[in-house]
This record gives sequence, structure tokens and C-alpha cells, in this order.
Amino acid sequence: NEILEIRAFLLEWYDRNQRDLPWRRICRGDDEDGSDRRAYAVWVSEVMLQQTRVQTVIDYFNRWMHKWPTICHLARASIEDVNEMWAGLGYYRRARYLLEGSKKIVEGGGVFPKTVAALRKVPGIGDYTAGAIASIAFNEVGACVNFHVSHTRSFFFHFIIPNFIFQGVPVVDGNVIRVVARLKAISANPKESVTIKNFWKLAGQLVDPSRPGDFNQALMELGATVCTPLNPNCSVCPVSNHCHALSLARQNKSAQVTDY
Ligand code: ADE
Repeated sequence: NEILEIRAFLLEWYDRNQRDLPWRRICRGDDEDGSDRRAYAVWVSEVMLQQTRVQTVIDYFNRWMHKWPTICHLARASIEDVNEMWAGLGYYRRARYLLEGSKKIVEGGGVFPKTVAALRKVPGIGDYTAGAIASIAFNEVGACVNFHVSHTRSFFFHFIIPNFIFQGVPVVDGNVIRVVARLKAISANPKESVTIKNFWKLAGQLVDPSRPGDFNQALMELGATVCTPLNPNCSVCPVSNHCHALSLARQNKSAQVTDY
């Protein structure tokens, strides 16, 4: 099965090749005081990474976590201090949302929300950040039920067969869109919301439900380091055997979804 091979090859590649990034070193704290360090670290790092390169984010992340090691520390910070810490990263609204979100979570008892649905209620946390935290910090898996009609039927009726699928929470950013677009040789208009919606759906089907967080990071990592917009390094790609763009010799295109 193609999807099972893509999952296995990608995770094996990620286990051997993942970059040593500071937020990946922070383990999940099980303490009940709400200082769930891993979720907090994933949150801060993913918000920083939304408009900024990894190399730049590392220093900012380390300084941030030194000053505010837990969400409770952050919730007591002033907007002036937060903006000063953010200086140079741009899009200051992101910093303000981190502060507002931390206050909201701490006021609500300090327990970090663990599902996409709960995370989306925090001010400033959108689909991307919610998916990243739920999968990377909590490995959220959703169960869905599909019903299909069996082909064997009795004289009077078709059998309705419930089909339970466990699906990991997906995360879709520009890297993921490019990797999935190439894997499936999809040409579509990236400006249309149906296109983006479709990539969330496709990514959701791809995520390995046994390791959603690592799988999502593997997709992003592959897009950042191997499946690059220009001149992708297909010779070292763990899933090149399953890449429809490569088999059509259409892998070497720009970053646009229309042509990858
Ligand atoms: N870019 C944004 N988030 C990332 C992550 N968790 N791993 C690798 N690249 C990323």
C-alpha cells in the first residue's frame, strides 16, 4: 500500500536526519500546574516560524524560553517586554497573540488545551498552530466513521458497513503543500480556498496515526531541506519512488502550487 510505504520511509528518514532544534529537545512535562513545557515550546516556536527562517528563530526562541520558561511566566509579562523580545522578527501581532493566549489559558486554570478544537478557541491560534500543537505536543488522533455500501447484498437490501479510520491531525504550511503537490502531481490554483482545503484533506489522509507529530515535522523538514522550491534533491528523497511529479519529470518547478 502506497500510503503505508510513504509513512514508513518518511518517518525512518526523519529519525535519521532531523535537525537538532532547541524546541525538539524540550520534553513534555506531566506536572499538573499547567506548565506543559513541550506544548508551550511548540507554540512559541511555531508562531515564530510562521514568517521567519529556522536559523533566525533559534536565537529568539532560546532567549524567549530563558526569560519566560513556562506559560505562567509569560502570562505575567508586559506587552512592552514581549515586543522588545520580538524586536527584529516583525509581524508584532504574533507576539501580542502569544501574550493574550497565555493569559487566557492561565486564567482558565493553566491547563494547556490538547485538541485542535480546544486550541482553536485560544485567541491567535489558527488552524496551522492548533494542528502543530495538537500533533507535535499531544499526538492527537481523531476517529472518523465512514459508511459504505457493500457490493454483496441480500434480496432486499445492501449492507451498510461502518468503516472506522484513525486519522492523525494534519499540519499544512507552504512546505507541506509543495511536498504533497509533488507527491500527487497536483496542479491547482493556490489562491483558491478550495485548493488549500484539499491539501488539508490530503495531508490528513497521509499522516501516520501512530506518530502524527513526527510525521508532520518530517513533511515540513523534507520540504525545507530536500523537496525545495527550486532544484529539489530527489536523489536523497526517501519517498522519490512514490513521487508522481518525479515520474512525470515535473519535479523541477517553482514554489507555486500551480506548478509545485
Ligand atoms: N517549519 C515550521 N515548523 C516546523 C517544524 N516543526 N519542523 C520543521 N520545520 C518547520
